[in-house]
This record gives sequence, structure tokens and C-alpha cells, in this order.
Amino acid sequence: MTFFYLFRATIFLLLSSFFSRLSAERITSVPAIFVFGDSSADVGNNNYIPSAPVDIRGNYPHYGIDFPSQVPTGRFSNGYIGVDYLAKAMGFEQSPQPYLSLAKEEEDGVLQGVNFASGGSGILDSTGSVSISLKTQIEYFEKFRSILIRKLGERAASLHLAKSLFFVGTGGNDLIAYYTEFGPRINETMTRLFISSLGLKFEQHLKKLYGLGPRKFGLYGQTPIGCAPALKIWNPSRGCMEDLNACSLLFNRVVRSRLDHLSSTLPGFKYSHANLYNSVVFLLENPDVYGFRQLESSCCGSGVLNAEEGCSPHSPYCHNREEYYFWDKYHPTQRGHEVLAMNAYNGSKVYAAPINIKQLVESGMEERNMHFSA
Ligand SMILES: *[C@@H]1O[C@H](CO)[C@@H](O)[C@H](O)[C@H]1NC(C)=O
Ligand SMILES: *[C@@H]1O[C@H](CO)[C@@H](O)[C@H](O)[C@H]1NC(C)=O
Repeated sequence: MTFFYLFRATIFLLLSSFFSRLSAERITSVPAIFVFGDSSADVGNNNYIPSAPVDIRGNYPHYGIDFPSQVPTGRFSNGYIGVDYLAKAMGFEQSPQPYLSLAKEEEDGVLQGVNFASGGSGILDSTGSVSISLKTQIEYFEKFRSILIRKLGERAASLHLAKSLFFVGTGGNDLIAYYTEFGPRINETMTRLFISSLGLKFEQHLKKLYGLGPRKFGLYGQTPIGCAPALKIWNPSRGCMEDLNACSLLFNRVVRSRLDHLSSTLPGFKYSHANLYNSVVFLLENPDVYGFRQLESSCCGSGVLNAEEGCSPHSPYCHNREEYYFWDKYHPTQRGHEVLAMNAYNGSKVYAAPINIKQLVESGMEERNMHFSA
């Protein structure tokens, strides 16, 4: 008996010390956030890849110019990015730390989550060969999970993961790679085949993650990628590349149906799929609602639409950054990121379906679905 109570007390102390930072300072709607994907979600993992070229890093000026203390953290923005705003809305300070920044002994101290995202990566291993592939990101998570189980025990770890938000933002680089490889030779049949295989592959990754304990999945769909300055400069009219936008739309539809398949076959699988396509179309048509005045050119960069040369320490950059939607030739400003994140977090069904991220994280969990299958 004594041993039993002692054991319980020890567990309680362990848990309360782990959670004290959370409970003492802030109330969060989920215990932790785990982030996967590409540059839409990377907060500095690529800084730790020695062979990463500058175009897949954001750890030099003028990146981060509006981040606290003007630090270029590796975020692809002048300041914060979407996952920071989502994390803030859920009561955290910002995105969890990049996985590769964690010293070995710190790994077990990050109960508020970890960010595994890597700029340049995609759903396919072949997309962004220098980046951390989604497959490897999930393997890193698996390692982190074993530490968590060792520390908390299987049951507490299982609960922790089942209640946490798993955010995934990926797919854009696969579409751009496909589009640049096949360019004018693309036909509808070929595109349908490619995108449906991409959707299947994505579903397999998510299923693998689910097997490791996550239950709440928040996903960013694709924006109209063809409207990024980097792509518009290839269009003689400087308009959006509509055939690439059609790929985004089709990809979003395919992913939605894969998600429906997962939620109807995997017990307890819940998701929110953010329709960034609708968010961007709305803001391009109604810039005044958010105070945007410049939707064509990037803020940082040079040449046509400030998109021929990427954003570098030598680039000119704009001063009215709250009025620009694009920061560099691919990525939004922090204001742009904020608008997309807030629509995903608590927007209507036009922006997030079948539920928004707020509804997802606040939804109750059924105990019986929380046990590990692996
Ligand atoms: C959405 O959440 C944000 C952050 O919590 C808040 O500022 C905003 O007012 C909310 N919007 C709606 C429509 O509820
Ligand atoms: C589409 O492209 C593929 C691969 O290049 C080709 O085999 C197929 O015949 C094309 N289909 C049409 C309808 O043009």
C-alpha cells in the first residue's frame, strides 16, 4: 500500500513539474502542438542543415525584421508565421521550438510540443532532397514519442498526444516541382493521376502518424500558388498562373476526400482542413478588409514584382510591411500569415471544414480511442 501511494505521489510530482510551466503561467486549449510540413510552418529546422542552400533558409536579414529583437529565426516571413498565430490563439507564446534546435538533454523538457517542419520539403521524399522529408519528420516524432513514454508512462503519454494538436502544412512544393518539371506538357489526365497519387501518399503519412497516438489533425490546404510573385513573373501578362491554381484546387479536393476516408476508418481521427485557397481569393478581392494595399509584388527582393531575386541581406525591402501580402517571392508577410491563420482557427466553413481548428482543439475525446496501436 505504502509503495503504491508513494508511486502515485511520485507520478503526480513528475507530471505536475512537467505541466507546471503550462498551468502556472497560461491556460492552453491543448497540452501541446506538434508541427509538420514545409516552409509554411518551419520555424528554424533548416538552420541546422549544413548543406541547406540560402533559398530554403530564412535565418539571415531581412527575414525576421519585425520579429521581437529583429531576429532572423528561420521563419519565412518578416516576423511570425501561421503556426505562431495558431499557437497564440490556443494560449501558447508562439510555435513550439524546432526539433533540430533541441539539445539531447532538453528533448524531454518540451512538453508543449515540437516543430518538425522543414522548408522545401513535400509529401514525396523526392521533393526538396536537402530538406527533412515528411517521412523523416514523422520518424523524428517517433523518437520524441519514445522519450515521452519513458518519462510519463504509456497511459499519460497517450493522453498527452491524443489531446494535442498535430498541425500539417505541406504539398505546395510537390505541386511546384511537378509543374516546373512538366510545364507546358501537362495535360489533365496526367495531372489527375499525379495529384491522386500525391493524395494517397499523404494519407499514408497521416495514417502512420495516427498509429503513433495523435487524434487531432489540423491541416493547411493549398493557396492559389500560381498567384505567388515567383510564378507570376513567368506569365507574360503578370497574372496568376491559372493552371497551377487548378492544381491547388484539385489537390485540396483530393486531400479532403482522403481525410474523410481516414476519419471514417480510423477510430477517434478528427480533423480540420483549412481552405487557404478561399482565404487568399477573398483577401485578393477585398484587400481593404485587412488593410492590404500591395498584393502583386513581394516586399523583399528585386527585379520584376521584386521576385526575380530572392530576399537577401542586400535586397531592397518595403517599409509599409503591414500593407503587403507577400514578404518574399513565395511567402506571406506576418500580417498575411495572421489573416490565414485566424481564418483557419475560428473562421466559417468557407475557411475551415468540417470544423475549424478552434472547434477541433476544444472537442472532447473518447477515452477508448486513445490507446496506442503501435
Ligand atoms: C478569432 O480568434 C482571435 C484570436 O483569439 C480573436 O482575436 C478574434 O476576434 C476571433 N474571431 C472570431 C470571428 O471569433
Ligand atoms: C497526357 O500526357 C501523357 C504523358 O505525356 C500522355 O501519355 C497522354 O497521352 C496525354 N493525354 C492526352 C489526353 O493528351
